[in-house]
Amino acid sequence: MFPPAGSARASSAGAANDSQLLSGRGVGPAAERIDVPSTVVVGSQWGDEGKGRVVDLLSADADLVVRYQGGNNAGHTVWVGEERYAFHLIPTGILRGKLSMLGAGMVIDASVLLQEADELSSRGVPVHGNLRLSENAHLILPYHKVMEAAEEERRGAQAIGTTRRGIGPAYEDKVARRGIRVGDLRDADGLARKLDDVLAYKNTIIERVYELPALNRDEIYEDLRAKYARFKDWICDTSTLVLDALCSKKKVLFEGAHGTMLDIDWGTYPYVTSSNPLSGAVCAGAGVGPKWIDRIIGVAKAYTTRVGAGPFPTKQPEIAHIIRDLGGEYGTTTGRARDVGWLDCVVLRKSARLNGLDSLAITHLDVLGQFDEIPVCVAYRCDGHEISEFPNDLDTLSRCRPVYENLPGWKSDISGLQTSADLPEKAKRYLNRLSELVGAPVSHVLVGRRRGQDIIL
Ligand code: IMP
Repeated sequence: MFPPAGSARASSAGAANDSQLLSGRGVGPAAERIDVPSTVVVGSQWGDEGKGRVVDLLSADADLVVRYQGGNNAGHTVWVGEERYAFHLIPTGILRGKLSMLGAGMVIDASVLLQEADELSSRGVPVHGNLRLSENAHLILPYHKVMEAAEEERRGAQAIGTTRRGIGPAYEDKVARRGIRVGDLRDADGLARKLDDVLAYKNTIIERVYELPALNRDEIYEDLRAKYARFKDWICDTSTLVLDALCSKKKVLFEGAHGTMLDIDWGTYPYVTSSNPLSGAVCAGAGVGPKWIDRIIGVAKAYTTRVGAGPFPTKQPEIAHIIRDLGGEYGTTTGRARDVGWLDCVVLRKSARLNGLDSLAITHLDVLGQFDEIPVCVAYRCDGHEISEFPNDLDTLSRCRPVYENLPGWKSDISGLQTSADLPEKAKRYLNRLSELVGAPVSHVLVGRRRGQDIIL
């Protein structure tokens, strides 16, 4: 009997031995298939897991790459030789010349979109024929950024530590049904009316609550019209394009942003982002039915990092200086130093369950190559009891202490290895144990930041 993928209890069943887990045998049927038409790549921790690298790897074989949520709070880094590419809005698949879509669940800062497109074009990446932008995606406007900065200041010590890109306020307006959508840019008069309406409301708050100067409607309007003229050809109903692709057996890759623990509903609320990074959000964000999704890959670092405020049970300030430099643990979007800690399998179990993970892609394994022993968090101890599920409320979480199991380190440089057979036994043991603890097989191991430094199991 196969252990149910994404089940925290799969490991305790003890059904699969180590080699089965590592090879990917003995798992759900979706992971067995090679020719998978639609795959979701989702972050399993607090973001920054290396999704960009995994999407870049998989997009070599994809026809279409779609982002389904978030905005330019995301930062995906891909190295091609010595060239570093940092993506915030545009799907990473654009680098391989794939049709790349920004879905309805995203929030779009038009300046960032154009900047990113211009930069990629100037470096020879074919952007213009390959980009599509959902008419239903919401726009991030100048008042969103002003209000987010003011709100973070007002929160003081309770600040969320957001990226201050206006993401949260743009999603607030979407839900409050006063958002302005990409498709609204087509109608110049309608846009002017919408802006008048929303600015009357926003400026009242900006002036009276935050005591800041009001924003000028004409400046925002003219700026938007000028930018629209540059990207209007990309705007369409992306959902029908995705469905057409799926119906004609094209391979579609859904590129998640952020991570499960930053999910607005299931993350460490309120220290979360304002959208749903979970795999299930693909349906609403890209406009496809759940039956079209074939495989879900959770990306996880071989350790854990977090940026911004909020709980982080396995945080280890004493190893931060070693891991931060080796792993390049500085935010792609804001440049902030990330907090660092040991791998937390309680987090990964939650992630496997919420996303229905078929398999795990483990990144940055090479970074652990110098430790004699590598602790892995297998459970939490809370109020005298051992618990295996991540608590939903922060008060309980604050009383949780990690229970570690120490695994032997492999003490070698694995960044040049190409096959799983070459991995040191202790590295295999580390992967097998985490696979067992999480209840999902490891399908990919990344051992460096460059293309080719990856092992497909
Ligand atoms: P926001 O998404 O800018 O509203 O920020 C909310 C929280 O999510 C902050 O702690 C951010 O640091 C974090 N966050 C948002 N996007 C990412 C990401 O792509 N990687 C890591 N942290 C992120």
